[in-house]
Amino acid sequence: MFRKIKGTQDFLDLTLFNFIIDQAKKHLSCYRFTEIATPILEPLEMYKRSTGEETEVVTKQMFTIEARKDEDWICLRPEATPSVIRAFIENSVQQTPWKVYTWGPMFRYERPQKGRYRQFHQFNMEIVGSQSIAQDAHFIKMLDRFFHDKLMLNNYALLINYLGCPSDRELFLGVLDKFLDGLIEQLCSECKIRKEKNILRVFDCKNPNCQSLYKDAPRITDNLCDECNSEWGALQEQLVLLSVSFTVQPKLVRGLDYYSKTVFEFVSQNLGAQSAFCAGGRYNKLVSQLGGKKDQPSIGAAIGIDRTLLLLETVKENLPLPQESALSVILPIENAQYTLALLIADNLQNAGLCADVLLEGDSVKSMMRKANKMGAKYALIIGPDEQQEKKVTVKDMVTGSSETILQIDLVDYLKK
Ligand code: HAM
Repeated sequence: MFRKIKGTQDFLDLTLFNFIIDQAKKHLSCYRFTEIATPILEPLEMYKRSTGEETEVVTKQMFTIEARKDEDWICLRPEATPSVIRAFIENSVQQTPWKVYTWGPMFRYERPQKGRYRQFHQFNMEIVGSQSIAQDAHFIKMLDRFFHDKLMLNNYALLINYLGCPSDRELFLGVLDKFLDGLIEQLCSECKIRKEKNILRVFDCKNPNCQSLYKDAPRITDNLCDECNSEWGALQEQLVLLSVSFTVQPKLVRGLDYYSKTVFEFVSQNLGAQSAFCAGGRYNKLVSQLGGKKDQPSIGAAIGIDRTLLLLETVKENLPLPQESALSVILPIENAQYTLALLIADNLQNAGLCADVLLEGDSVKSMMRKANKMGAKYALIIGPDEQQEKKVTVKDMVTGSSETILQIDLVDYLKK
């Protein structure tokens, strides 16, 4: 027997999964986003240049496919943002802001645990080419409204931070480096490497000792230029005015390199260690970094569908999940009624009704049991007598009552 690859999942019931996707599509189309699709295979180099050469995603988590002949290395996409920006540049999209979403599987070679998979799913949305920080407030409100109103979630928090512009960041990295110099003997070995290679990542360290050392670390929001400082103030003000509850989290730096200014995560305690079920932020340089002619300030986020599913499991009773259509199951009693059963089924399906036929030669009793298990509203029994008289015995599976009606009247009877 073969087993699924570690960190992947089989979905045998997609009702909730599809509910999230359908609701998100409807919600986003009201905000004038359009759906796009990009490939799962992308150039490896693209992620080095965007997600970041020194990020965990690129250094440790890529599923790569070795270059063939004179082609370049390719990989399974670990996230969608660089793909969307590549598509923006490659297709010379002119109209901005370009508001798009895409969804599907992403791949990261991580240690699997609850809410963390090697093949997982994101619903990813981006607004490419929009400078104003007010767009960030609008975008975050859109997400908050989605989780609260459409998915009926309430046990979550929104964490936000502001990473400033590139020059703020440059200055802050120096301030942080000085602060860490004073603690160098006490840092874990990973943080010592982070300090040299990607210093902001020290805040992602899970080591409790490091975390307690960083309690007094300088905050990037205390080291902003005037323009960023007023934008950061405006963002918080707008969120308050839009009734979005949030917590400022000074150590939220996000694990991907392209962010500047606004960053945020929606988290829920119900998820345990992997608490973020949606995350994103502003990124103003990615278009030029990936070869676009001019910078396009942008903002985006990705909803982790697998983690959102875990959250919805506990509230699904309150959700307006799509009702299954009434099913009629046809029970031909003998082989001689099989053709008639097919014709009746085809007639019902042609009229837009849902029907299935039991063709395994079981006894009536066991066919009734099967029809019940299938959730049938009606069992349509066809034996030699019914065949002879051009009739069908219709058994209502909820009330248990039966009626014999003419085959010709069946569609009208089931529709009413
Ligand atoms: P990210 O924080 O790497 O951001 O991922 C976004 C979300 O995807 C996470 O909050 C989590 O819910 C889900 N996720 C990530 N890795 C896994 C995993 N191994 N298993 C299950 N779920 C996972 C991004 O990917 C950015 N591209 C978001 C973005 C879009 N920023 C701007 N635009």
